[in-house]
Amino acid sequence: MPECLICKTYYEPFVNFGKMPIANGFLFEKDFNKEYFYDLKVGYCSNCHMVQLVDQPEREKMFNENYAFFSGTSKNMAIHFRDFAEGVINDYLPSKNAFVVEIGSNDGIMLQNFALRGIKHLGIEPSKNVAEVAVKKGINTISEFFDKDLSKKIVEEYGKADVFLAANVMCHIPYQHSVIDGINELLMPGGVVIFEDPYLGNIIKNTIYDQIYDEHVFLFSALSIKNLFDKHGMEIIDLQAQETHGGSMRYYIARKGMRKISPKVKYYLEKEIEMGLNAPEIYEKFRMECEVYRDKLVGLIKDIRKNGKRIVGYAATSKSTTIINYCGLNSNDIQFISDTTPIKQGKFSPGAHIPVKPYEEFKNNYPDYALLFAYNHSNEIMQKEKEFMNAGGKWIVYVPEIMVK
Ligand code: SAH
Ligand code: TMP
Ligand code: ZN
Repeated sequence: MPECLICKTYYEPFVNFGKMPIANGFLFEKDFNKEYFYDLKVGYCSNCHMVQLVDQPEREKMFNENYAFFSGTSKNMAIHFRDFAEGVINDYLPSKNAFVVEIGSNDGIMLQNFALRGIKHLGIEPSKNVAEVAVKKGINTISEFFDKDLSKKIVEEYGKADVFLAANVMCHIPYQHSVIDGINELLMPGGVVIFEDPYLGNIIKNTIYDQIYDEHVFLFSALSIKNLFDKHGMEIIDLQAQETHGGSMRYYIARKGMRKISPKVKYYLEKEIEMGLNAPEIYEKFRMECEVYRDKLVGLIKDIRKNGKRIVGYAATSKSTTIINYCGLNSNDIQFISDTTPIKQGKFSPGAHIPVKPYEEFKNNYPDYALLFAYNHSNEIMQKEKEFMNAGGKWIVYVPEIMVK
């Protein structure tokens, strides 16, 4: 039986999605025979409430100089991080001399807002290609994996931080105790940790199983985060639900007793217990719902193809890797996937090897149906694609329900 990455308790996996490739591992045909696969299995630890992957590929297989996800590809995410940064500046930065550290800073989508105001900042971004984009924008960035050892070096070189930020990266890191020891090393006594990740409550409620892939080794809840930081003398002081990535949660954490605790903390902890996130039954139900969702989506796509209609995937997202491979879809079902990211274009999707083509291929020859893999950018995309819809084009969506619209 696998052992919990947080508390070492043994647990049983509740779902097995089968063999999966690296979710962001878009590849050339010449590399098909070298493609890496692992078993995507998820479990719930009833001792500390952490939902986690049983096996995660080693970090260099996912985060390296060919990392395919550039945060800046979405305008709405840029606005989201501008607002995030403004909130931090207004509420948590003590003075102009403050120091902000962000891990998983990617192309600088968040830190650019601090850099513009001349605020001392440092980004930690191990994937060299995306880190380089940030450096070119004038954002101080080091290309390393954050952990306890690195934090000691940061303190020596730059001093202690007032705020520690992380968006969509804490849930990527299996060695949480080393990360939080590092945070404790790095943070001023009254400093605050603010991070956000896809939220277990939304994933379970809307069967958003595509949030489950190699990078997301944890699916956090307030319950699991409370337990985790409690072991390090820290506590949740506030929580804020976010609409990003199909539903995320932002956690505000400080050393115990240093900051006032918002009533929202109690509210969410109680809500999670009411929902049953602290009991194995809900995870069994989730597994069955994943199967229902898969069969429904596959049925819909096969029907459309039987009628001779053309389907193109819209956006080669990392999370589409789980959907495509779990549903057993291939290039007979989806002709190609259109994506605006140059590094993905001309390559093939992980596992199923569906061609990824530039956006223009979609734009210049509309399909009958577009399968929306980037539902988290739905507002932005619907705005942009009025012409496709006016031309009679239809969307296949699968969050929160499977439907054609
Ligand atoms: N914060 C951005 C990027 C999220 S993608 C956003 O929300 O859009 C996750 C990023 O975390 C990747 O760029 C990856 O290279 C980085 N990362 C992975 N492990 C890390 C670690 N141990 N320390 C710092 N960054 C890490
Ligand atoms: P994400 O869902 O993980 O944020 O990934 C977004 C992907 O979607 C990225 O590869 C870029 C692509 N994309 C498009 O192709 N067109 C768009 O309009 C948007 C918003 C994203
Ligand atoms: Zn545990």
